[in-house]
Amino acid sequence: MSDLADKVIRCCRDIAGMTEEPGRTTRTFLSPPMRDVHSYLRAWMQDLGMKVRIDAAGNIRGIHGDPGQPRIMIGSHLDTVPDAGAFDGILGVAIGIALVEMKPKTAVEVIGFSEEEGVRFRKPFIGSRALIGDTDWGDPAIDEAIRAYGLNPGELPAARFEPQNTAYLEFHIEQGPVLETLGLPLGVVDAIAGQSRYILTFEGRANHAGTTPMALRRDALVAAAHWITEVERYASAHQGLVATVGSLCVSPNAGNVIPGEVRASLDIRHASDAIRRHAATHLLSRASAPHEQLLDQNAVEMDAAMSHALAAAVASAGYPVHRMTSGAGHDAMVIAPHIPSAMLFLRSPGGISHHPDELALPEDVDAALETGIKCLTS
Ligand code: HGY
Ligand code: MN
Ligand code: MN
Repeated sequence: MSDLADKVIRCCRDIAGMTEEPGRTTRTFLSPPMRDVHSYLRAWMQDLGMKVRIDAAGNIRGIHGDPGQPRIMIGSHLDTVPDAGAFDGILGVAIGIALVEMKPKTAVEVIGFSEEEGVRFRKPFIGSRALIGDTDWGDPAIDEAIRAYGLNPGELPAARFEPQNTAYLEFHIEQGPVLETLGLPLGVVDAIAGQSRYILTFEGRANHAGTTPMALRRDALVAAAHWITEVERYASAHQGLVATVGSLCVSPNAGNVIPGEVRASLDIRHASDAIRRHAATHLLSRASAPHEQLLDQNAVEMDAAMSHALAAAVASAGYPVHRMTSGAGHDAMVIAPHIPSAMLFLRSPGGISHHPDELALPEDVDAALETGIKCLTS
């Protein structure tokens, strides 16, 4: 393992300790620990002579080389899910800075997006959406959070990427079992699966758990439970489809009260937008419950020429080339429709992510650095 790979891993581990919840890693949009993350990354980038700024969306951005020259953007997100691992997002930012430490001849902009997961305001991709000028958040609380952090939402237009930003490259852990199963360190991403996110509200009638006969109940949680088994059955019956009910909010949430209301999340993904949308229609109709749509993100293909060059760089660095689809969403899916974008996955040992056991191997970080520097000097 190289010292630089060690530095990348150490950066991820250090930043994992910058959390809203002592004892576990949880870091949401512009939360207080994000200041420590910004300071840590600013120090490393300024040591390398990079010009660093925080834009109005809270993205940290460092430029290596002449700002007037065309430059590739390398980045990922700084926020996490609750009780997260140490590598989802931040690994891609640390690898970007490490590549600058390898003194590439080309100009580079490293970017750490302030928010991708959508945990704090249920709106994912706030950071990367600012780059494409998609800042009608639909929630005044987001601008409030920007002000509370000491930033000015009026300056969001200055966060848009510039003509000099000619390409985007994101390094990210795979977050699944494919590369580990194949015994491969790296994967070139061809496309990112589309995703739909909803909140459904199952309505029943709260009542006394001891005095209400079973036949006279309207138990919202039982209704939700029947539906959740249909979600699992339907997704298991359709190749490549994944559907998840990740959060339930039961009210009044007391052991001796029949649940009167349940708010359930639904996350549906597939490489085909038509299949994903058909699944959504089916599952929402089976719920027959009011729902709010939080996200309808089409599948996004990576730039063919850039992905071809990335695969050639993997091969010339001496590693097997594996092309794959990403089941996880990434900032690259927001950026790719606007500037040529590519993604390189690093193996996820144990195939686990969005979990404290999430890992990245130093030797795979070395493989990513050896590949990345070939993209910056060609
Ligand atoms: O949910 C996702 O796919 C990503 O981790 N935000
Ligand atoms: Mn994630
Ligand atoms: Mn991620």
